Amino acid sequence: MGKTTVSVNLAYALARRGWNTLLVDTDPQGSVGLSLSEKARKCQGFYDVVHSGISPLPLILPTRLPELNILTAGQSHHFFGSAPESSDGLAALRRIVAELSSRPFDLIIFDTPAGLTGSSGDVLRLADSVLIPQQAEPLGIRSIPQMLQAIQYLRNHGSKLEVAGILMTMVQADQKESTEVVRELRALVPAQLLCQTTIPRDPIFLKASAAGVPLGLLHRQPPAAAHVFDQLAAELEPRLHLNSPDSANEFTRLMD
Ligand SMILES: Nc1ncnc2c1ncn2[C@@H]1O[C@H](COP(=O)(O)OP(=O)(O)O)[C@@H](O)[C@H]1O
Ligand SMILES: [Mg+2]
Repeated sequence: MGKTTVSVNLAYALARRGWNTLLVDTDPQGSVGLSLSEKARKCQGFYDVVHSGISPLPLILPTRLPELNILTAGQSHHFFGSAPESSDGLAALRRIVAELSSRPFDLIIFDTPAGLTGSSGDVLRLADSVLIPQQAEPLGIRSIPQMLQAIQYLRNHGSKLEVAGILMTMVQADQKESTEVVRELRALVPAQLLCQTTIPRDPIFLKASAAGVPLGLLHRQPPAAAHVFDQLAAELEPRLHLNSPDSANEFTRLMD
């Protein structure tokens, strides 16, 4: 749980930091579109592109931020109607990625459904990096080693997939069970795979998804949890090989 929330808020944070970001919803239940706007929900998107062979480029929706664009899941009857063979899905995804690369995106974030099959599996086969959001609950973390094995399998079979990080979400710092799980996970996986940043459980997320906005747009002064995603974005930039030109690393004088 928490994948779509992380995708939307991280995409927003990275775009705010200047990276030209495309968020692609590959969940047939269209959760990015659902959480963002009524209008976005009715648009054609990813699954229409997969099934009809049309170009994704005209379906990319701009947002309030010039650096953030969205390709919604589109009309899921395509998915539930005649699901293509997995290999067709992979070929379609390869074509989509190739077409998207004609636009100057610094990164493309794919929000996937749960699991390793279907569109999630296809995305993993073609992606450069994967961020694994994991709810801080005891049963959940047991699937992490399995997930890492699956990734290793893909790497052994020609994929370049790297783990950008395992991100603990819905962490309750005041609950022993929750902090215990974080500790348990640290023992379970190599330390460098765990993100330093953790996402707290906070009712503000429900409010933001009801309003259909990233946390950063919920109020004029964004809530504290919004800044967690700025921290996550900064942490992930080197892991995602997002390198600023040297000129961007010069300090700015406070006064002339
Ligand atoms: N850190 C969090 N704290 C509280 N609620 C959250 C948090 N992250 C997600 N949620 C809520 O949990 C529900 C499922 O989250 P979502 O991101 O859609 O999960 P997924 O995409 O993995 O199914 C949503 O209602 C969302 O608002
Ligand atoms: Mg989701």
